[in-house]
Parts: sequence; structure tokens; C-alpha cells
Amino acid sequence: MLNNTLIRKDFPILEEYTYLDSASTSLTPIPVIDAINEYYLKYNANIGRGAYKISIEAGSRFENTRKLISKTLNTSPEEIIFTKNTTEGINLISNGFQFKKGDNVIISNIEHHSNYIPWLNLKNKINIKILQANKYGIINPNDLHELIDENTRIISISHINNAIGSLQPIKEIQKIAKDKGIILMVDCAQSYGHIPLDIKADIMVFPGHKGIMGPVGTGFIYIKKEIQKHIKPVNLGGGTITTTQGEEFTLEQSPHCYEAGTQNIAGIFGLKKAIEYTNTIGIENIDKYTSKLTTKLYEELNQIENIKVYGKKDNIKNIVSFSLNNLNPHDVSKILDETGNICVRSGHHCTIPTLNQIECTQGTIRASLHCYNNQEDIEKLIEIINEISKVF
Ligand code: ALA
Repeated sequence: MLNNTLIRKDFPILEEYTYLDSASTSLTPIPVIDAINEYYLKYNANIGRGAYKISIEAGSRFENTRKLISKTLNTSPEEIIFTKNTTEGINLISNGFQFKKGDNVIISNIEHHSNYIPWLNLKNKINIKILQANKYGIINPNDLHELIDENTRIISISHINNAIGSLQPIKEIQKIAKDKGIILMVDCAQSYGHIPLDIKADIMVFPGHKGIMGPVGTGFIYIKKEIQKHIKPVNLGGGTITTTQGEEFTLEQSPHCYEAGTQNIAGIFGLKKAIEYTNTIGIENIDKYTSKLTTKLYEELNQIENIKVYGKKDNIKNIVSFSLNNLNPHDVSKILDETGNICVRSGHHCTIPTLNQIECTQGTIRASLHCYNNQEDIEKLIEIINEISKVF
């Protein structure tokens, strides 16, 4: 089991705030901040571009992050490409994939905008098919059979929904995709660092700044080697080619062909420390701990009058979303902030499709948890929500 009291010491911001918005971005522990500083204080040079010591050392430490990721995900380093966030990773695939006319991609009607808009943006070139989730925001994998045809190239689904926390049956979806020879892409924005990843899709997209508790401006994508030939680099320039002559150029091998320009070197130093930090606590421990807190929060909120809590209690992960007395969710968030220094997200959570599906178009109030939260955080939230429900 994890030691919450000890963990909280690494997040001094918690002395002042009750932070319940980790689905948006997690807090950053001191060791990760130290690792970022270490780059600026000791190795502040560009990588892959200098023959001097600190440039070489910075480059080797940068590559060590990639090696650590590939070890923990059981991939090879060439299959890990750094990005600045999940959204950039998905755009790298949607814009780089060499589609043929008539191809189609399947997404669901509860994707966040990052796994929705990049695909809609291709609708003049390919067909976009949309799988319908149920009222709890859960997909039935068997519904895929009605959408899949011989032109389906990619199924792209989020592992955990970011507005209401519903966990999708990825293993079943994976089985169907594999049987049909379709590429499965899983958006791990809300699962990486929060739950053990017992899945291995063809493409997986990860943020560095959410569950794994790394710096903002970091993320990465896993692309299985055999699939990389279908994905052209979208950004070209420094670091992406081996040579150029006249009007010709030769692309670098993966991952470098996909990583144009100077990278977020300090962020990637921090990301390595974040992975080590999270692994030391243990992702299974984090999952067990936050699952208990999530259930507790769901149950306690559900007892309040005139509240609607979304999602299915035994299916949600880390996220509890609700509406109160038809109040504007931003007003509720403001009251929580002003009266209790409580940080929650309110509104559409960058997923208008999910809000349409749960029939709550004005948006929800969302509390999202991590291993640094505790029972007291929940009690503080419940107390004020209770008051609001009586007054308004
Ligand atoms: N996707 C992030 C969230 O859910 C920004 O808040």
C-alpha cells in the first residue's frame, strides 16, 4: 500500500490547495522538478548537435528516458517518439498516415476533442465512423462489427474517458481489431500512470504531465515498427534527415525522423524521474488506492440531494463528474475555489461529444484524483457541495 503522508510531502502546493484536477494535469513532485533543474544547471546544451561534453551527456540522458519507457512498455526504443502532449501524438498519426481514398477510421462518440477533431478534420479525404457508447459512457465492442468493413484502417479509442472516467474494454476491442487486421490506436491520456497497462495496441499515445506526474509539454507515442512505414513524418527539419543534396533529402530512421527541431530536453529529463517516481510507488498501488477514494467520492456525492453523478460506480477510474441543482458548473467551481481553495474542472472538459451522450450539455463539475489526494480532500469537497445544494 502507498504512504500518502510521505507522498504529500513531495507536493508543497497541497499545503495551500485541495487539488482535484489531475485529469487535466497532475501535480509535479519535487524530485521531478529537481531533474528539470539538473538539466539547466548542469547540462544546458542542445542534443545531437554538439561534439562537446555537456551536449553529449545531455543527449545520452535524453535517450535514457526513451530506453526507460521502452523497457517499461516492453517495446524497442525506435518505437517511442517524443511529443509535447497527447494531442500532438494523435495529430502525428492522423496527419501522417498514408490513407487511400475510400478508407475509413472508427472512433467513438465519447472521445475527447484530441481524439475526435483530428479525425473529423480528414472527412474530405476519408470516412469517419462513430461508435455509440451507452448512457454510462461505455462502448460495447460487439457494436464494432456493424461499422467495420474492408476499408477500415484504424480504430482509435480512449482507454479511459476524461469527462466521466469510464474505462473501456480495450482487450475485447483489440481482439476484434486483430482478427480483422485493423490497426488499433489507444489514447492513454487518462490511464498512463493511473492503472497498470495490461494492453499493447499497435499505436499508443501517452501524456507526460498527467498520471505519470511528469512535466507539462511532454508526452510520447508508441508506434509498432511494422506500422511506421504507413506514417510519414508531419514536421521536417533539423534532426529528421541524414543528408540533403539539391532538391533531395533522405529521412532519418525512426524515432528521429518524427522528432523535428530542438526537443523539450529539460522536460524529458523530468519525465524520466517521473516514471521512476511513479514506479517506486507502484502503479498497482496507485490504482488500488485511488480506486477506493474514487468509489468513496462517488458514493458520498450520490447521497446529496439534487445531484446527478455520471458514469457507473464500478467502472469509473479516478474521475467523478456530477451536476448540482442545474447550477452552472463554473459557478460551483468558483465557489469551491473561493471558499475552500478547492481546484476542480468545470464545463465540457474538451469533450462536447461525451456531454451530448450523457445529456448534460451545460457541462459537469469534475473531481479527479491521484495518489497525493486523501480522505480529507474528499470531505472538504463534500462539505461545500452539501452547503451549496442546500442554499441554491
Ligand atoms: N484532457 C484534459 C482534461 O480532461 C485537458 O481536462
